[in-house]
Amino acid sequence: MCSTVRLLVLLSIIGCVELITVSTPHKYVNVTTGQNVVLPCTFVTSADTKNLNIQWDFVPSSSITQQVYYYQSGSVIIPEPYKSRFQPPSSPGTTKNASIIIRDMQSSDAGVYTCQVHNLPDVEGKSEVDIIVHVFEAPSTPYCSVHGDVESGHLVTLICHSERGSPTPTYTWTRLDQAKTRRPVLGRTTITGIMEIRNISQFEFGEYQCNASNVAGISTCTIELNHDVGDGVIAGAVIGALLGCVLIVLVVWFIAHTVKKHKYKAIKASEGNEMKSSHRAPEASDRVTMATTAGNLHAEGDDPQA
Ligand SMILES: *[C@@H]1O[C@H](CO)[C@@H](O)[C@H](O)[C@H]1NC(C)=O
Ligand SMILES: *[C@@H]1O[C@H](CO)[C@@H](O)[C@H](O)[C@H]1NC(C)=O
Ligand SMILES: *[C@@H]1O[C@H](CO)[C@@H](O)[C@H](O)[C@H]1NC(C)=O
Ligand SMILES: *[C@@H]1O[C@H](CO)[C@@H](O)[C@H](O)[C@H]1NC(C)=O
Repeated sequence: MCSTVRLLVLLSIIGCVELITVSTPHKYVNVTTGQNVVLPCTFVTSADTKNLNIQWDFVPSSSITQQVYYYQSGSVIIPEPYKSRFQPPSSPGTTKNASIIIRDMQSSDAGVYTCQVHNLPDVEGKSEVDIIVHVFEAPSTPYCSVHGDVESGHLVTLICHSERGSPTPTYTWTRLDQAKTRRPVLGRTTITGIMEIRNISQFEFGEYQCNASNVAGISTCTIELNHDVGDGVIAGAVIGALLGCVLIVLVVWFIAHTVKKHKYKAIKASEGNEMKSSHRAPEASDRVTMATTAGNLHAEGDDPQA
């Protein structure tokens, strides 16, 4: 190893083999979605650059290597997915600048980019550098919801979740009072944005806001935790129950009354028949019975005359 280096140094001094040095000022580049990114890469070579070869490769976080850019002796190849949003190095043979620009970065562009430079016969030395690119995405508008009975003593769960966002957003809940001033909500919010309120009476009803935030930005949603609605529901239930009771009482009374009336009629009717058969004078107030009795009496009264 040592002898190889010594040999190389010796050869480079002699001029048979040159040492190429590729470098970058930024090993880590952070960008948010939609932004353009400059991937800086420069090199030093003492050999003539007519055989210059530059290659940019990309290894996505979860996939295999793909080629981004290929340069050989003045000819350039830019693969299809990059063509429309790619700015290649301009005359890298003279500028010794192999930096590239990729426009409209997306989450899928996050990963490791490798800049490799070869310049025959200058093949020894540090011929490549890696640049690690993070693509941050602001949280998408979160989805706010309330689960559980919004009533004293019940478990209420406030849920807040953003579909998109990188790195994973952190969620915080605040309560907005009448003057729209924010007050942090007591209670713990889980990493997934869920906050449980075990005893709603310990909290105030009103407007709650959830902030989903990460380094790229912030998004909010608000939700109403309404006391009036809770009271209304209770009042409604009470009124409903009362009305139900009243209705039941009415129905029972009506049935009882009707049955009583029918019984009364039936008794009166049978009494009338008894009276009719015994030829006794009518005392009943029932009109039907009266009428028949009267008719009978009249007929009976006519009989002796006939
Ligand atoms: C890029 O983001 C990472 C992770 O959030 C952070 O640790 C690093 O300091 C950032 N680097 C730059 C140059 O902003
Ligand atoms: C190399 O090129 C990039 C992109 O064109 C540019 O931003 C950068 O300033 C250049 N670097 C040097 C050292 O000239
Ligand atoms: C809820 O909080 C109220 C007031 O702080 C308290 O009186 C009540 O006992 C609590 N109920 C439960 C189930 O913790
Ligand atoms: C939530 O977001 C709003 C508006 O983006 C901001 O004014 C407020 O301070 C944030 N609250 C917290 C607790 O981060």
